Order: sequence, then structure tokens, then C-alpha cells
Amino acid sequence: MKLQKPSGRILIAGAGGGIGTALCQHLRTCGMETVALRRDRNDRYALQEATAKNSLVCCAGIAHRKASIEAYQRSNIATPLCLARQASRVGVKRLIFLSSIKAVGISAEQAGLETPPRRIDPYSWSKRRAELLLEQHCRANGLELVVLRPALVCSPQVRGNLRLLLQGLTWGLPLPLLPRQAPKPLIGIDNLVSAIHYCLICDSRLIQESPFILYDEPPLSLAQLYEELSRQLRRRPQVLPLPDGLATWLTHLPAGLIQGLSPLLQQPPPPRIAPPGWQPPLGLAQGLERMVEGFRQTG
Ligand SMILES: NC(=O)c1ccc[n+]([C@@H]2O[C@H](COP(=O)([O-])OP(=O)(O)OC[C@H]3O[C@@H](n4cnc5c(N)ncnc54)[C@H](OP(=O)(O)O)[C@@H]3O)[C@@H](O)[C@H]2O)c1
Repeated sequence: MKLQKPSGRILIAGAGGGIGTALCQHLRTCGMETVALRRDRNDRYALQEATAKNSLVCCAGIAHRKASIEAYQRSNIATPLCLARQASRVGVKRLIFLSSIKAVGISAEQAGLETPPRRIDPYSWSKRRAELLLEQHCRANGLELVVLRPALVCSPQVRGNLRLLLQGLTWGLPLPLLPRQAPKPLIGIDNLVSAIHYCLICDSRLIQESPFILYDEPPLSLAQLYEELSRQLRRRPQVLPLPDGLATWLTHLPAGLIQGLSPLLQQPPPPRIAPPGWQPPLGLAQGLERMVEGFRQTG
């Protein structure tokens, strides 16, 4: 494994977010110098005193709330592209872009459209479109691009559907479950920041297979996840079985509704593609334990 400690600073956009905060903490603990970039009113970041020695990580964007297509275009597409343009101007060597596992399966043709096709949810489209535009820009300008497509992140600052699941469990609410539930991929925050760290320091040849699809093995079905979380919270799991035909019916709903109901509509996860030579430091169970511990403290 060829690793080199970057001689310069790591510039981080979205450093105040869940992943950005954990990444900054981790890199500083490892003795690396990080710079949290600031954004203006238009969500544009300025590369402060960037030099060719710096590397850039883009963790910025709208991730946990529904937004308009215009907001996704501004924050999830224009923002990383603007960062890449500034980075190539000063000669930054490597850009790591936090995309999402949800970008998988969206074709270059669909991502090439100015607005998302009807049956694709705008968040997933915005991530795939950003990937496409970044690839074009970076290829033309000699900037190394690493695209990371993480699954849902579990961290002690748990939010969104995972928090709802934990809250439902502690309140004793039954979980609606379809009979055949595909596994739901998750990645622990420690493993994700470790992968980002690795992609910052590994040899250029090792990032050739980007985009990397990151999740912890084995992905659990919602029922298994619910059972595991119940065990950790010492609660008895309660499920409400739903009829099988409901899944087929749900797939005919508009994209917005499908996004809201996504916990019920799991597709099998795409194969994991990890950076060659990188090993996740923790197992899935340890990542879930860290999440449950954080939930207990704040919940
Ligand atoms: N968390 C997950 O489960 C997950 C899974 C897959 C992919 N991702 C991707 O990973 C990235 C980081 O996720 P995260 O969980 O750290 O998200 P987060 O906690 O919401 O943080 C996102 C950060 O982006 C910046 N930002 C820029 N424009 C924004 C806007 N218009 N609205 C809100 N924030 C804006 C903010 O940073 P500053 O205020 O510091 O500038 C914010 O703290 C996102 O791009 C997300 O799509 C996340």
C-alpha cells in the first residue's frame, strides 16, 4: 500500500456538517492541518489562500432535508463545481467529492439533463449530475477526482430516518415491514472518515477505480437492523407486516412520495467498491453501537 502524508493543508467545504466535523476531528488527531472553508450567502465557498500543495474535500450540500430543484442545483451541483474550478486554477492536486450511493444507477444521459427526469428523486439526480460535471471538469484540467458514494451514515449525532427508527423503538411503536425486504446498506462514520483519509494520502493509481461505493458489510435488512437496534436498546421489537402487493403498488407513486416512503422500498444494494488497499477499521455492529450510545445521550 503506497501512502504519502500530504505536505499541505486539507481544505474542507461543509466542515460544519455531520461528516465534515467528524473528518476535521479525525484528520487533526492524525496530525494533519485542516482548513474549514466558509460559504457566502449563495452557498459558494472561497478557497482561502489555497496552493498547489493543498487537497480539497467537498462534504458540502443539502443532504437531510427536502429542497427545491433550484436549491439542489445551487448547493449540490454549482457549489462543488465552483470549488473544482477554483481548485484547478491554483493547481490543487486532488479533490474528494462526497456523492451518495443514491447516485448509482442514474445514467450519464439522465444526469446530463438540466432538471431531473420524472421518476428520479432530485437529490439522487443532483449527486449524479455533480459527479458528471466534476468528471468533465477534472479530466480537462488535470485535477485528480475521487468520488465517494457512501450509504446512509450512522453516527452518534444520528438524524433523519435512523433517529425516527430509534425513537419509534424506544416508544414501543410497531415497524411496518414488507415480507421481502432487501438489505439496507449503512456505513459507520468512523469508517467513512477513514476512507476519506485514505483517499487523501494514497497513491494516484489506487484511486483509478473511483467512484467508490462505501458501506459496511454485511448490509442488514430493515428487520435485522430493527432487531439489532432493539437488542442494543434492550427493547422488544414490534413489527406490523404489510401485504406483499403493496410494494408493486408503491413503485407507481411519484418520485417525491417514493423518496418519503423509501424505507419501505429498498432496492438490493449495489456491489461495494472500496479503494484498493483500504480496510474499514470498525465492523458494522461497532458503528451501530456508537450510534445508539450517541442517541442515548441526546435522545
Ligand atoms: N449523512 C449521510 O447519511 C450521507 C450519506 C451519503 C452521502 N452524504 C453526503 O455527504 C455530504 C455531507 O453530509 P452530512 O451528513 O455531513 O450533511 P450535513 O450535516 O447536512 O452538512 C452539510 C454541510 O454542507 C454545507 N452546506 C452548503 N450548502 C448548504 C445548504 N444550502 N444547506 C445546508 N448545508 C449546506 C454546510 O456546511 P458549512 O455550514 O460548514 O459550510 C453543512 O454543514 C453531503 O453532500 C451528503 O449528500 C451524506
